[in-house]
Amino acid sequence: MRNVGIIGTGYIGLVTALGLAEVGNRVICLDIDEEKINLLKKGISPIHEEGIEELLNRNIKEKRIFFTTDFQETIEKSEIIFICVNTPSKEDGEVDLSQVISSAKSISKFLKNRKIIAIKSTIPIGTLSKIREIFSKEGKKEGDEYELAIVPEFLREGKAVYDFFNPSRIVIGAEKDYVINSLKDLFSPFQAPMVITTPITAILIKYASNAFLAMRVSFINEIANICERFSVDVFEVIEGMKYDKRIGGEHLSPGIGFGGPCLSKDLMGLIKMAEKSGYEPDFLRAILEKNEHQVRHIVYKVKEQLSDLLYDYTISIWGLTFKPNTNDVRNSLAIKIINLLKNDGANIKAYDPYGMEEAKKIIKDVEYCNDIYEASKDSDLVLILTAWNEFKKVDFLKLKRLMKKPIIIDGVNILDPKEAKNHGFIYKGVGRE
Ligand SMILES: NC(=O)c1ccc[n+]([C@@H]2O[C@H](COP(=O)([O-])OP(=O)(O)OC[C@H]3O[C@@H](n4cnc5c(N)ncnc54)[C@H](O)[C@@H]3O)[C@@H](O)[C@H]2O)c1
Repeated sequence: MRNVGIIGTGYIGLVTALGLAEVGNRVICLDIDEEKINLLKKGISPIHEEGIEELLNRNIKEKRIFFTTDFQETIEKSEIIFICVNTPSKEDGEVDLSQVISSAKSISKFLKNRKIIAIKSTIPIGTLSKIREIFSKEGKKEGDEYELAIVPEFLREGKAVYDFFNPSRIVIGAEKDYVINSLKDLFSPFQAPMVITTPITAILIKYASNAFLAMRVSFINEIANICERFSVDVFEVIEGMKYDKRIGGEHLSPGIGFGGPCLSKDLMGLIKMAEKSGYEPDFLRAILEKNEHQVRHIVYKVKEQLSDLLYDYTISIWGLTFKPNTNDVRNSLAIKIINLLKNDGANIKAYDPYGMEEAKKIIKDVEYCNDIYEASKDSDLVLILTAWNEFKKVDFLKLKRLMKKPIIIDGVNILDPKEAKNHGFIYKGVGRE
């Protein structure tokens, strides 16, 4: 049993805290957002993830997890402290380190007795020096009052709890045996290969992994768009590719592109890091550019069915979150696509099973509906932008009766094209018809 502190109780902080508490540690979670902390104290999760509230309530009851806004209490009571604050992108693609810097400043005052500060936030090379500088201004010395480590997180939103308990690998970036052994011990209940490396390598492992995943998305979208030109089904192409072990079938899902809080911001972060080092990362730039093209390709598919200007049309959007099984709409491409359609005059009706409250905060002038049928009533076209399982259960007969025109653009290839067409719909997926 270790005493663990979590700084920043968002998606990553909360799941990390719950995972570590569940295996027997005593975890104290801090956030500067009082509202969030108050909800969590009551056993209410601000994020939607399968199994999360059950875990939360069990660990509160067993007195293994605590919530606070008090830095002093958190640091003093913890031996290992994880920084899990966000590192979003600035306008120019640089990583915005303001949350990391401000949390480090708050932590620095209370450091003593060789606390291990393990960074889970995705941070660029050079950030550790900034943190050391902050600690040193408070008179704190590495090796005496604190130690540093990089422990990147690889879990997927939507499957966060499952992934935390079943990690693909655990990467520990640290120099000293004391730090490495403490972190190895903390993560020992989770069965996964452990990669022990230097902090700078751990940083690059995280950025390279996300860039690779982004590359697979952009790659298969490129192939899907080519398939459309030749009326070939991209899924048949994937079927024939995936048995090659060098390729595999994972993460080859043609669609609207990669959105969400991580892939594009981390790709941009890596591009900036490379540029600063004097290297021109042309290939990484192309991945990002392809992603932007894909969004325009989806809008083009809508216009191809309706018209260049969309003033006379109502479009029904199914799905607002950046992926299914989460309520996260940060950098959701669905929102980006809605904005492009609205700019061209479209009237938008939308439905999402869990993302509407978050979406309402960032996108107005949309008619939010209670289900897909209400969203589709009197619409000229259905545009599916998140692959929620419930969309698969659509009653095509009912949908056709409600719509003005029976047109479906399936941006996430979730419906069966044959079934849609048999019911009299014009159906267009991505890379298949
Ligand atoms: N979300 C993911 O799927 C994912 C996956 C892997 C890695 N990551 C990385 O993990 C990090 C966290 O991402 P997230 O999605 O959990 O972010 P988040 O925005 O959900 O959570 C960050 C939390 O930190 C709090 N916070 C902000 N400033 C603070 C401060 N000074 N002191 C204490 N708390 C503060 C915020 O109130 C918020 O609750 C990012 O670097 C991200 O790139 C995220």
